[in-house]
Amino acid sequence: MTRHFLTLLDLEAEELAALLDRAAVLRAERGAPGARPLAGKSIVILLEKASTRTRLSFEVGVHELGGLPLTLISKDTQLGRGEPIADTARMLSGYAHGVVFRTFGHDRVEELARHATIPVINGLSERYHPCQLLADLATIRAEHADLRRVRVAWIGDGNNMAHSWILAAARTGLSLRLASPERYAPAADVVGLARSLGADVEVVTDPREAVAGAHVVTTDVWSSMGHEAENAERARAFRDYRVDAALMARAAPGAMFLHCLPAHRGEEVAAEVIDGPASRVWLEAEYRLHAQKALLEALFGAQ
Ligand code: CP
Ligand code: NVA
Repeated sequence: MTRHFLTLLDLEAEELAALLDRAAVLRAERGAPGARPLAGKSIVILLEKASTRTRLSFEVGVHELGGLPLTLISKDTQLGRGEPIADTARMLSGYAHGVVFRTFGHDRVEELARHATIPVINGLSERYHPCQLLADLATIRAEHADLRRVRVAWIGDGNNMAHSWILAAARTGLSLRLASPERYAPAADVVGLARSLGADVEVVTDPREAVAGAHVVTTDVWSSMGHEAENAERARAFRDYRVDAALMARAAPGAMFLHCLPAHRGEEVAAEVIDGPASRVWLEAEYRLHAQKALLEALFGAQ
């Protein structure tokens, strides 16, 4: 059966832990001559939304593992002119060895995976952004070896990143508190799924309650891609959900700040935090490369 990576639940807890260990090794060994498990293989990066980090980290990562990355911007393809996803999946399976897909509804990633005979990696859907969590967890692991002892506070929109953190809690044992305005709370079925797997996840509305004692404070844009028309309404709803120095002061001493980027200083995060000593966002962005190389090795290395 073809192995896909659509959500963090596609990795068992032990596989995820091994992948995070491998990401740290790949970071330490970067530049040294290594195995090239993707030699002779082509990976398509198919984008229906903008991307800087996801595109670059996969392009560089595939290249460093010896493969050929091919980025397709959907609007320049027949998919962008209405060619069915199923046909795209069948066709890509004949050319390439894997595909990274960034899209709108999560059903679109699932449909690509259903019809592809090559591994599909979710490069972000409206529901989940699992590749980002690999990097985020690897960044935390650089300071906290045991994720089961880590408390994470998510502040803001109950979006694809929030949902991915919720599944991360299920797969790693970290404790998660999310603070969102009621209307923008994470989806109840995602919370329920994680809890059914034993995750320690709590949803509140007060950011101060969420950050109390947290080792990691993280947030994301107030309007995700595809929600730009709601900017004004969301800016009002999230007014009290900015991560600033006063909020960080309520977290555990030495707490780190994470953000998947791109960030909007003065909106979801104050410049004093993202550009201050608690911020690990550049290491986090760098870990996209190492963590995805570890993922690519796991999916394609043994083929
Ligand atoms: N964090 C992230 O996925 O960044 P891009 O949108 O630039 O790919
Ligand atoms: N939640 C954001 C993440 C961007 C990397 C979005 O979907 O636009």
